[in-house]
Amino acid sequence: MLDTADAFDPRAFHAQFEIAMIVACSRNGVIGRDGDLPWHLPLDLRHFMRSTKGCPVIMGRKTFDSLEKPLPARSNIVVSRSSKGTDEEGVWRVEGLDSALSTAKTLIGQGVVEQPVWIAGGGTIYEQMLARTDLIVRTLVDCGLEGDAFFPDLCTDTWKIVHEVQHPADDRHRYGFSIQWLTR
Ligand SMILES: NC(=O)c1ccc[n+]([C@@H]2O[C@H](COP(=O)([O-])OP(=O)(O)OC[C@H]3O[C@@H](n4cnc5c(N)ncnc54)[C@H](OP(=O)(O)O)[C@@H]3O)[C@@H](O)[C@H]2O)c1
Repeated sequence: MLDTADAFDPRAFHAQFEIAMIVACSRNGVIGRDGDLPWHLPLDLRHFMRSTKGCPVIMGRKTFDSLEKPLPARSNIVVSRSSKGTDEEGVWRVEGLDSALSTAKTLIGQGVVEQPVWIAGGGTIYEQMLARTDLIVRTLVDCGLEGDAFFPDLCTDTWKIVHEVQHPADDRHRYGFSIQWLTR
């Protein structure tokens, strides 16, 4: 059922789930181009930062490399086949997704961060983690673009939109977008 009530509290809703995915993609599934985001949408960025604050965030090495610095006030868990260990404050480098999840769960168990574990891309990580995800928070950007990183197609029999918030294009947002919460 689509919930459009104003009382929707994203943080309280997210906390009910163990593993959640957060993504912004175009209508044709593009999430990235040349190692970066193909758009600048300040309000979507704010939504990402508010949603993931205080939680573990799992990402692929290429996504981590695209950031200017580690995401503050959250545990950055970076998956790479070639590096592991903790070399920077707030960053854990792990060699696979099982290690990433167990690191996240350990940090939650220690009270360092709180549920959910956020899967924050890029394309290779979304693809591998989709089957293990309970919640998808998807910003659908109202454009069709060329790119080189993609979000997997979602089966509409499996994934249902339970809440949605729309934002029109304006002088700070070249494209309109809709933030959708999808559960199985
Ligand atoms: N729009 C959005 O919401 C969003 C979100 C995130 C990222 N992005 C964009 O997506 C693009 C990056 O995505 P991408 O798909 O190219 O790269 P990615 O998924 O961020 O990173 C790929 C790297 O992750 C590591 N990796 C992946 N699976 C692994 C596994 N099972 N075990 C160990 N390591 C593993 C490997 O690192 P090594 O090569 O070090 O072994 C691999 O090269 C960028 O353009 C970024 O801006 C967009």
